[in-house]
Amino acid sequence: MCGIVGYIGRDRAGSVMVDGLKRLEYRGYDSSGVAVWTEEGIKQTKRTGRVAELEAALGDDLGGTLGISHTRWATHGDVTEANAHPHTSSDGKIALVHNGVIENYVGMKTFLTEKGYTFQSQTDTEALCNLIAYHYAKEPEVAGKNRFLESVRKSLRHVEGTYGIAALCTDCPGELIGARKGSPLILGLGEGENILASDANALTHCTRNVVYLEDNEVVHLTDDDFSITTVSSKSVEAVIHQVDWDTSEAELGDYDHFMQKEIFEQPTSLENGMRGRFSDDGSTAVFGGLNLNSQELRQVDRILFLACGTAWHSCLVAEYLIERFARIPVEVEYASEFRYRNAPLDKNTLVIAISQSGETIDTLGALREAKRKGYRTLAINNSVGSTIARESDGGIYQHAGPEIGVASTKAFTSQIMICAMLALYLGRLRDLSYGDGVAIVKALKKVPAQVEEILKQNEKIATVAKKYASYEDCLFLGRQLMFPIALEGALKLKEISYIHAEGYPAAEMKHGPIALISEDCPSVFLATSGEVFSKSLANAQEVKARKGKVICIASEGCDIPEGLADDTILVPECHEIVQPILMTIPIQLFSYHVALERGCDVDKPRNLAKSVTVE
Ligand code: M6R
Repeated sequence: MCGIVGYIGRDRAGSVMVDGLKRLEYRGYDSSGVAVWTEEGIKQTKRTGRVAELEAALGDDLGGTLGISHTRWATHGDVTEANAHPHTSSDGKIALVHNGVIENYVGMKTFLTEKGYTFQSQTDTEALCNLIAYHYAKEPEVAGKNRFLESVRKSLRHVEGTYGIAALCTDCPGELIGARKGSPLILGLGEGENILASDANALTHCTRNVVYLEDNEVVHLTDDDFSITTVSSKSVEAVIHQVDWDTSEAELGDYDHFMQKEIFEQPTSLENGMRGRFSDDGSTAVFGGLNLNSQELRQVDRILFLACGTAWHSCLVAEYLIERFARIPVEVEYASEFRYRNAPLDKNTLVIAISQSGETIDTLGALREAKRKGYRTLAINNSVGSTIARESDGGIYQHAGPEIGVASTKAFTSQIMICAMLALYLGRLRDLSYGDGVAIVKALKKVPAQVEEILKQNEKIATVAKKYASYEDCLFLGRQLMFPIALEGALKLKEISYIHAEGYPAAEMKHGPIALISEDCPSVFLATSGEVFSKSLANAQEVKARKGKVICIASEGCDIPEGLADDTILVPECHEIVQPILMTIPIQLFSYHVALERGCDVDKPRNLAKSVTVE
């Protein structure tokens, strides 16, 4: 949510920052801007709209040796050029870009206004920018002390809230400063140049050597050196990591959209999630990073899953699978609710956070709250080195590759795959038999090829989607394991096509939502073979009887009565444990094609951003 790129080094600050912002645009795309240090002062360019607008405004003016830049997802203030970052202090000394929320900015603003500082924007960021200028103006010149750095640290000590920042000062042509608390910031170490970015994606075109800043750390950069201290001025030993993923994975290639690319990558992402993770006897899963031995895992008598959005739907699938195959009671909480609730947890509860980005602030906050209370925590996470991955006691990486489309697709199916493997693993530590384990492993291994088969129905699903693209309401209905997939189908459709959609357990229809059914509100039924199949069909009949259109997504071999479904999409017959993965593919394609038909920007839906790093 919002993206930052800062640069110091050779004469290419503008081009490195614009390239970086393009790679970060999925984090926020209301407006963008750059500030470059020049002999005449800070030169700033800002535009509302996409980074392309900024790039056009900059033209060939892409040089400079020091600069900061930002792509915004608005929190405080409208989408205007005045509210776009960077912000400059009213004395013109300091320029600042910021991700996060300064909660006490009103008090700061009052204080600074009394001191004669003025404000051009409605943002919280401008208050911090002026506060740094205020401390800088007051800071005496003392040999051996860095006045700019000292003023940033002093200002941050007053901040309540969260920040990832990059700042420059007109008096300091060779210095760039960054800091973080609750909002990610990564330092990229180049040759004769150093970069700051809120996401590794934005700096891998320059370097793969990175340092992940921790909360309350401040980094001071020159073109060939850096030092890290805490906000309270203690020095910090930096650990340099190598980004080892293939950067082309974050590029569009031959596809029209990242969402489309990521839907079609699922056979590979699912394969990657399983690679090397089955026992030699083929009866269970193995995970390297849980940091819990079998005995400790056998003592777990409850699991609490925490997540937001699509990842929360994965948790609901995990609940069904772990309770069914491992017989461990599972609870699922919205991370944003859990972190402020006084939830009684048993001491043998294992807390698992699921997050694609590993930076979602609510999930991170909930994880920290669980840790603070002394619970053992694990993370299921896609972004290697993310804050959630680093702060949990152990975890499982999804290995799905970078997900750029705002609508989560391959990360969702890969989370379900990991949860299915976890259910198998925990089950085999308890009652699940060798034979059942072998059957599940076989079923899991077949999934990539089965997904490939479903993807071949792309054209057919596009045709079905076109029929329903002009409706303004839609219901997604499913029972048991299909209920979370119904929720996910509704979320996918609403977030990228702006059609009002709801997911319900199919039998709940009769308790209220059936009032919505008319010829103007189609229903997508998710019906798999199994004990509730006939009951799902009965629910579909109830819709049909009220003139509602029925789109039926079902397993092959399911006997769907003639005339019940207006449209039918079939997925291969499979083991129950993998049904949620296979049934998800058609709803992803359906939403994608509906959104295209409605002319929506599928990769950058309105009001959204990829990673939600503000509360
Ligand atoms: O990165 P995370 O998995 O923590 O993100 C959680 C949600 O913000 C995310 O799944 C969101 O709901 C997506 N836009 C859904 O497509």
